[in-house]
Amino acid sequence: MKRELRETADGSMTIYIPELEEHYHSYHGAIQEANHVFIVNGIQRFQTKDTISVFELGLGTGLNALLTAIWAEKNKQKVNYFGLEAFPVEQKLNFELKYDSLITDKKCDVIFSKIILAPWNEKTEITSTFSLYKYQSKIQTLQLDQKFDIIYYDAFGPRAQEEMWNFEIIKKVIAMLNPDGLFVTYCAKGQLRRDLKTLGLAVEIIPGPPGKREMTTAWNI
Ligand SMILES: C[S@@+](CC[C@H](N)C(=O)[O-])C[C@H]1O[C@@H](n2cnc3c(N)ncnc32)[C@H](O)[C@@H]1O
Repeated sequence: MKRELRETADGSMTIYIPELEEHYHSYHGAIQEANHVFIVNGIQRFQTKDTISVFELGLGTGLNALLTAIWAEKNKQKVNYFGLEAFPVEQKLNFELKYDSLITDKKCDVIFSKIILAPWNEKTEITSTFSLYKYQSKIQTLQLDQKFDIIYYDAFGPRAQEEMWNFEIIKKVIAMLNPDGLFVTYCAKGQLRRDLKTLGLAVEIIPGPPGKREMTTAWNI
């Protein structure tokens, strides 16, 4: 699949896939969106928990993992992060995104390169507070006997990849959520919200990042 680099409105880069006519992040601002959706309205809500487990669907460029690792360092909380990815980004292209040059936090450059260079299908200690398990598989064939406190659902949008939003896949992902766990996504589709309610979750409609009216979170009550 051909991948091209594109600059987004906040100056951060993203990847564009011409074949799907889809970006990896919002063109209104990649870092801004990732921070709003997955940090502020995601992991930030677990501020009182000592150790937090995260499952990400679509590790992609590792931007969400990077922001989460920085958050864990700042908050001195331990995060075990499982990043699922069917089609890994080539390392060379991944480095060209230069997220470390835009995020000014201490050690960001080291964390960014450790995430990119971490081997697949094994656990890597990226920092003393953040471990990463990069796992290469499609969600459709994933067999994982593990549950998580947060699920970052960062698949391509329903227009580009409708199959990632069907009820069976959402049900499979929700089955990996701990009691009191949180499902987080940028997506605001009514069908997704209805499916989450059918699965017994308490759905929240949250203001989206700049350029998007709403996003969705849901608690496994
Ligand atoms: C919106 S992008 C993710 C962006 C990523 N979170 C980041 O910060 O760069 C969606 C990702 O889902 C991956 N993907 C597509 N189909 C998949 C599947 N069936 N199972 C797992 N991952 C898939 C794509 O390769 C892509 O990396």
